Amino acid sequence: MNDRIRTDIAHNARVWNYWLGGKDNYPVDRAVGDQVTGFYPGIGEVARADRAFLGRAVTHLAADAGVRQFLDIGTGLPTADNTHEVAQRVAPDARIVYVDNDPIVLTHARALLTSAPGGVTEYVDADARDPEKILASAAATLDLSRPVAVLMLGILNFVLDTDEARSIVRTLMAAVPSGSHLVLTHPTLEPELGGEGNKAAMAFWNEHATPPITARTRAEFASFLDGLDVLEPGIVSCARWRADGADGAAHEVAQFGAVGRKP
Ligand SMILES: C[S@@+](CC[C@H](N)C(=O)[O-])C[C@H]1O[C@@H](n2cnc3c(N)ncnc32)[C@H](O)[C@@H]1O
Repeated sequence: MNDRIRTDIAHNARVWNYWLGGKDNYPVDRAVGDQVTGFYPGIGEVARADRAFLGRAVTHLAADAGVRQFLDIGTGLPTADNTHEVAQRVAPDARIVYVDNDPIVLTHARALLTSAPGGVTEYVDADARDPEKILASAAATLDLSRPVAVLMLGILNFVLDTDEARSIVRTLMAAVPSGSHLVLTHPTLEPELGGEGNKAAMAFWNEHATPPITARTRAEFASFLDGLDVLEPGIVSCARWRADGADGAAHEVAQFGAVGRKP
């Protein structure tokens, strides 16, 4: 086993995989995952709504906005409908760079590198807090002079300092041209989304698991999209973003979702 992989403490990528019904997790991840669910029973629904949002947002970008390049930071473990599968279903020539810093994601990355012929997928082992490294690595696969969709789903919540999180987003979006997009999801405690229940769950997480997490207000979430044109329907529960009949009537979950376009 990769000696960076710790099985004595729950890791976010593995617990998220557990909530999504995956098998790539350890007893410690399942135990903490179950305890968090005890505090916040809707957490599994958040994970599923987040993935469904990814599917709708990436399909929109590939099919309607003509985006052919995707930089997915905080990828998570391979699951159903990974970004390249969604994008390449619409556009087989789409090029995708995945980025995560969890060693378990690295060991499973091969399952993400199954590009359609004509397209490309690449994996970069890097920390979101080093956007320059991410951009330099991504430039080997993506043409950063052409539009890129930057996906940061459920990851800025692991950058605890809001100014640092904003600066990461600004650095990434400054490096890509007009027509690029930023796709975001982020947990919140806002009562408008029923987020209060998340508070005890996050406190428990921060005592027993890694990496530590924070929630953000609507205003903080909105600040990540500063300078971008936020696509309809704006900043909403990710479960409600352009929801269709199949998953749309879905309950609101305490996770903001939005897509912004660089003008
Ligand atoms: C909640 S999961 C979300 C996975 C996927 N984006 C989704 O929406 O289903 C967050 C992912 O971010 C990764 N992550 C957390 N902090 C990170 C960091 N500082 N740099 C890179 N990846 C990070 C975790 O390893 C995990 O795979």
